Amino acid sequence: MQITPLSEILGAEVTGLNLADIDDAAFAAIHDAFLTHHILVFRDQDLSPEQQAAFSRRFGPLDIHVQTKSQMPGIPEVQVLSTKVVNGKYVGSPAAGDYWHSDLSYTDIPTLCTLLHARALPEEGGDTEWSNMHLAYETLPEKTRERIAPLRARHTYNRLRNPRVTVHEAHRDEAKARYADISPDDSIHPVVRTHPKTGRKALYVSPRFTIGIEDMDEAEGQALLDELFEQSTRRAFIYRHKWRLGDLTMWDNRCLMHLACGGVPKGQLRHMNRTIVRGDVPY
Ligand code: SIN
Repeated sequence: MQITPLSEILGAEVTGLNLADIDDAAFAAIHDAFLTHHILVFRDQDLSPEQQAAFSRRFGPLDIHVQTKSQMPGIPEVQVLSTKVVNGKYVGSPAAGDYWHSDLSYTDIPTLCTLLHARALPEEGGDTEWSNMHLAYETLPEKTRERIAPLRARHTYNRLRNPRVTVHEAHRDEAKARYADISPDDSIHPVVRTHPKTGRKALYVSPRFTIGIEDMDEAEGQALLDELFEQSTRRAFIYRHKWRLGDLTMWDNRCLMHLACGGVPKGQLRHMNRTIVRGDVPY
């Protein structure tokens, strides 16, 4: 197995191994690299959805995403993110991840890591970006770090409660059923969380899911969130991934935000299988 950093701030490429067949020593090396680089890109993986779920499960119990419409038939732990249309309907979610976020932060026990496997890719577009929220936190002015230390923020899945986002055109007709009727859709988490494995602190707010600061005047809270979102999406903290067929990426939601960059031309296919591993209560 070779592990090669992809940028100075985030990510490493892992080659020379088949994730369908790894022993405990390889798994321990992968786990170490994951904590060091925060995103791993495993190249040339030809995994079935069952094999992806089995590898993911080595990191902990899998969660079933609240958006059940994009589940893979027969394997609810695998979610399909796809632009593919059959009989006039998308077979999976075509717009997942279109605003910066950390997975499932709107639940009490958000995602530890997400694994995304590229099964079909468009000729252009469809990149993914990740932002290093450790660096975003550590480079804040000391006064801001002191100010946000005791704060907690409200996270929601419901796009209709978040003026920073819109509903993708694919879902406009079903927005209420897709977002407002989904439960749970509200959680409170610290603005700064501590990574349970490394002890390092990271910002834990996102434009997609964070809608307010607890016990703070609304206007003041929104202004603070704007400041933190600007800080956490500075180019210096971002790694952008151009996918290759067979890439399986795996990232740490406890210290990163990510964004599906879009830009896939109409009619072109981007098809990904996603699994999410349950984490723990942020502190
Ligand atoms: C996600 O937000 O998990 C999806 C990212 C992507 O499809 O690029």
